[in-house]
Amino acid sequence: MRTHYCGAVDTSALDQEVVLTGWVHRRRDHGGVIFVDLRDYKGLVQVVFDPDRADIFQLAEQVRNEFVLQVTGRVRRRPEGTVNPDLVTGEIEVLGTDLKILNRAETPPFQLDDTDVNEESRLRYRYIDLRRPEMQQRMRMRSQVISRLRRYLDDNEFIEVDTPILTRATPEGARDYLVPSRTHAGHFFALPQSPQLFKQLLMMGGMDRYYQVARCFRDEDLRADRQPEFSQLDIEMSFINEDDIMTLMENMIIDLFKETMDVELPRPFPRMTYAEAMHRFGSDKPDMRIPLEFVELSDAMAKVEFKVFSGPANSEDGRVVALNVPGGASLTRKEIDIYTEYVGRYGAKGLAYIKVNDAAAGREGLQSPIVKFFDDEVISVILERTGAKDGDLIFFGADSAKVVNEAIGALRVKLGHDLNMLQGQWEPLWVVDFPMFEWDEREKRWQALHHPFTAPSVDTPEALEANPKDCLSRAYDMVLNGTELGGGSIRIHTMEMQQAALGVLGIGEEEANEKFGFLLNALRYGAPPHGGLAFGIDRLIMLMTGAGSIRDVMAFPKTQTAACPLTSAPGTVSEAQLRDLNLRLRQREKSAE
Ligand code: AMO
Ligand code: AMP
Repeated sequence: MRTHYCGAVDTSALDQEVVLTGWVHRRRDHGGVIFVDLRDYKGLVQVVFDPDRADIFQLAEQVRNEFVLQVTGRVRRRPEGTVNPDLVTGEIEVLGTDLKILNRAETPPFQLDDTDVNEESRLRYRYIDLRRPEMQQRMRMRSQVISRLRRYLDDNEFIEVDTPILTRATPEGARDYLVPSRTHAGHFFALPQSPQLFKQLLMMGGMDRYYQVARCFRDEDLRADRQPEFSQLDIEMSFINEDDIMTLMENMIIDLFKETMDVELPRPFPRMTYAEAMHRFGSDKPDMRIPLEFVELSDAMAKVEFKVFSGPANSEDGRVVALNVPGGASLTRKEIDIYTEYVGRYGAKGLAYIKVNDAAAGREGLQSPIVKFFDDEVISVILERTGAKDGDLIFFGADSAKVVNEAIGALRVKLGHDLNMLQGQWEPLWVVDFPMFEWDEREKRWQALHHPFTAPSVDTPEALEANPKDCLSRAYDMVLNGTELGGGSIRIHTMEMQQAALGVLGIGEEEANEKFGFLLNALRYGAPPHGGLAFGIDRLIMLMTGAGSIRDVMAFPKTQTAACPLTSAPGTVSEAQLRDLNLRLRQREKSAE
């Protein structure tokens, strides 16, 4: 139907007859001449219809935005002064000699170049939204990225294996999406939160190196970088240790960035322990582009008369830190109030600060609601440790370590962006040596920090049981610019260790057998040492394309309330379908009462 793509007609086609197809991007009537910008995914070309050909001109007059056309025409140079250097097609135009309207379009609900369309509308009319150049570019980038990753893994002797979507719960920490079984009354499939257990079974099945572009389902609170349904590049290998897989995986990402974006990432990626990351940045996924660091003050604040600081300083799970912001003294009272409100969202009860006007003058040179509580020695410790200079501002966080890390960690990132402090464009990092367990205060029991199949760094089940609190795991996360791109671990491959790990989590033998009996069984029949990881493909592509949300790199994402405005999913079902599934709805029961 066409000889050229609209966006690709250039001076090499001068004086040729071309046939083009595409959408009407814009139509302009210029006193007797009609200009149509015809669009396909490669770009725009200007088509001119003049009244000399009356029948075609009449058709062109009917054309509106988003009509689908087939245009035949002759390529000619644009008149002097109308050349558009921003377009591939900017030096030429096509004089229309024939025109077919392939389809008409109603007035679109939004203009393609309107950048302020609400997301509900964009998702409801996704087929129009997808025509935008930036969506085209992102979807194409997505396809290229996945294809490059597949190629790398194929070259490294991985095989791609599909695993079931209708399955049993895999514990990754979110709620399951459930599917009722018609043939087994009262029983449910769970959609996989990840293929974790299947990929381990594949290693036990001798597959050696596995990968899958796997769809995962998690019913959790949604954010800009979370969707209920998302894709992982899921990977598992046998007979390897942490270094083997981390090296292979960082080489894969280095290759990807080089080949698709011509970006050179550092080789090897820096590594940092979880403990150091929390200590210096309050986060297990620190954005290394931001040159701000926590300064520990817990020890120095134990004896001050300001209870807000001495309380946490003297409590076992408390923490007091400072964050020095170079040049921050120019922040206004109002701006500080806004940051105070911001950290409040993370549970902080306030945001103390010191403006350093004249450091050499000691107390007199400081402007702050809290220095009155400190003696000169404490003040000099603060100034010394933070290295604050004239014109800087020091923020303080004092609370449980959890609240301080979350609140001041988030403040660090926000300040980094607000004050344009980012250094370097791409800062990857491995975070390693995670704790094996974390204490769940509400449920009064240990939880797995990763998942219950992660190997501990101790060698025997007894050592694990003796000291779960201090036990580290053999897990690793890849972080890029403050986003967790992927995570994984060396797995437990013996029955005894797996039972011990489940035991620490309070999962008894009966429950373990009921939930993961198949895995425990498999461990009895010759399971090789193995490990792997999974990348969040959507997050990776979000970062690579600079999109603001993972929804912008998915063709048909869901809203913040996990619904699809395009298809109106989820929907209701008929009584007959419910009966088939042996289900009765509570709400309908109530309204029938
Ligand atoms: P994890 O739960 O860390 O590990 O997930 C791996 C990666 O998947 C991405 N991700 C998400 N992306 C979009 N929306 C979500 N709701 C979402 N949740 C997670 C993140 C994350 O780093 N089975 C293990 C992997 C392993 O141990 O091999 C797992 O699923 O980028
Ligand atoms: P107050 O004595 O409550 O007026 O607090 C004095 C200063 O300490 C104010 O700037 C508060 O924002 C700040 N502040 C209060 N609680 C905390 C906290 N937990 N961490 C850091 N700063 C705080």
